[in-house]
Amino acid sequence: MSEHTIIPVHPQSAEYSLLTPSQLQAMTRRAERDPDGFWLDQAERIHWHSNPTRAFCGSFQDDVEINWYHDGTLNASVSCIDSHLGDRADQVALISHRDGTDEAEKLTYRMLHERVCRLANALQHLGVSRGDRVAISLPMVSEAPIAMLACARIGAVHVVLFGGLSAEAIAERLVDSGARVVITANEIARGAKRIPLKHIMDEALKKAGAESAVETVLVLRTTDAPVAMLPERDLDFHDFVDWFEPDCIPEIMNAEDPLFLLYTSGSTGKPKAVVHTTGGYMVWAAYTMGMVYTHRPNDVLWCTADVAWITGHTSVVYGPLANGSTTMMFDGLPSYPQPGRWWELIERHKVTMLFTAPTAIRSLMREGDDLVNRYDLSSLRLLGTAGEPISPDAWMWYHDVVGKGRCPVVDTWWQTETAGIMLGPIPGAQKLKPGSATMPLPGVSMVLTDTKGDVIEGAGEGCLCVTRSWPGQARTLWKDHARFQQTYFSFSPGLYFTGDGARRDADGYYWITGRMDDVINISGHRIGTAEIEEAVGADRRITECAAVGVPHSVKGQALVVFAIARDEQTSITPEDITRQVSLAIGRYAAPDEVFIVPDLPRTRSGKIVRRLLRKIASGELDTLGDLSMLSDADSVDMLINTVWKEEQTLNVA
Ligand code: PRX
Repeated sequence: MSEHTIIPVHPQSAEYSLLTPSQLQAMTRRAERDPDGFWLDQAERIHWHSNPTRAFCGSFQDDVEINWYHDGTLNASVSCIDSHLGDRADQVALISHRDGTDEAEKLTYRMLHERVCRLANALQHLGVSRGDRVAISLPMVSEAPIAMLACARIGAVHVVLFGGLSAEAIAERLVDSGARVVITANEIARGAKRIPLKHIMDEALKKAGAESAVETVLVLRTTDAPVAMLPERDLDFHDFVDWFEPDCIPEIMNAEDPLFLLYTSGSTGKPKAVVHTTGGYMVWAAYTMGMVYTHRPNDVLWCTADVAWITGHTSVVYGPLANGSTTMMFDGLPSYPQPGRWWELIERHKVTMLFTAPTAIRSLMREGDDLVNRYDLSSLRLLGTAGEPISPDAWMWYHDVVGKGRCPVVDTWWQTETAGIMLGPIPGAQKLKPGSATMPLPGVSMVLTDTKGDVIEGAGEGCLCVTRSWPGQARTLWKDHARFQQTYFSFSPGLYFTGDGARRDADGYYWITGRMDDVINISGHRIGTAEIEEAVGADRRITECAAVGVPHSVKGQALVVFAIARDEQTSITPEDITRQVSLAIGRYAAPDEVFIVPDLPRTRSGKIVRRLLRKIASGELDTLGDLSMLSDADSVDMLINTVWKEEQTLNVA
């Protein structure tokens, strides 16, 4: 498989596509010539209370200020639900399939409306009003999108927290966001695994203490597992919510009112909450999903991402619902109770579009083709991927074995900060190159620059930047606009730097080469090495440490930590360090390998040379390069001995 493989436009996708190749070119040109007119037209994809008359307004230079559609008003829950009640009230909006069961809960748009309204009324009764934050930590059950949309209905700002976070990490986020109400569940049950969500939340609230503004915790019981309730603070979700009226007048929001905060990792230890606002985000969700997924009312879109990530927000909840499709959620594992579970669910629910991460594709690929071939996957018409680079081999397997060569694979590049797809193919209008995220969507003004910020024309490799704002762009970081400017705009004035590197070929196709900063991507989970180092360094037995990402055949990258013990007498084991990271961040961030080492390679000015650590951990010992800049070149031999002495292959290989 070479990167020159080109997959012609699929006849089936051409049938669905709204655009021919020449129409796509015309649309791209129009977006460049008349961005305001173009984005006002795209705003018509969603339902507004009062239509905007202006598109972008603000500045992408020095004092960065981003406003979109600022004179428009809307309510996101109305755009996602009420706007469909006229013509598809009885169409299934949400399929929620629980782990280990044969039953799926199916909610029509009418039922979804009722459930969202009841919860919205309940939240209002608890005193939640416009602008208040509500934290949501739930399994992948229908109450998760219902909670998000209920917040949107009353103008509250949702903050969805990943179920894999530790109590410490949750406490930090509860305090930072100032959430007044928490919506959680007794536990997450997946296969044999149990995550005691409520117990972890209790611990988090204890740790947060008086710094937390949480007054009420709504507790959903997803299993029979007993749950401790604090009478003056905790309420049973259904006992409380089901009494409220199934109708709730939506709060009319300004386009620039925040819709949600979402925590993500960056190159410093402190978690940062990206702020997305209502109008621009909704247009972006509808536009990007509509263009790349070409939704039709009868489509069943299954995006396997957890709702706690941006992919879950946009591709499970807001995008499909704004476009009037059926969205499916599955609260389980691909291999439980049997290894063909995903394929069985596609057959059962006649899924037309599957959207998942390359990590999942790689691990399903390992199970072999026979398993896939046992199921009827003929309902599929489009396959999508996002979150990490997909190798041409995995792309072809997805295309040939899962899609039987009939379905285009859309590799889409985006970020928590971009809210939706920036690079991705328009099926039916573009040829595909396995391993490439294709080209920017119309209206996305993407460039490659050198490290000084000078734009590279034509084919080349460099830093992936955006020159003009787009409606879904994060507006700021919660309570820290200075950090927002510093993180994304200090690279070069007037440019949003994505943190990623990319190559552009002679046909203008983009090939993502990976992060250029200290962020690593493990199974599609974005983790900052600085957060890991902070967690490890918090143990007084460690004087210094470095975390690096190394290639991994299934997870994309694996996390390797090198740590220096305070002195030789200190008893600290790799397991202690792994536990420390799990406690500070969550088990999902636990290192794959930990090495306790006497020293780390440094430059003469004392800076740890992480590039060398990556090479050593991934066994690239022949290409260590020039070591003359090191203060002590012997430290490298010592490290190689520690890492490679006993084990010929690291577990992470
Ligand atoms: O490095 C890029 C990688 O994931 C990062 C963003 O992660 P997150 O904020 O969690 O949002 C994920 C939304 C899909 C990016 O900076 N990434 C995302 N998509 C791709 C990708 N790397 C390669 N190819 C992709 N398609």
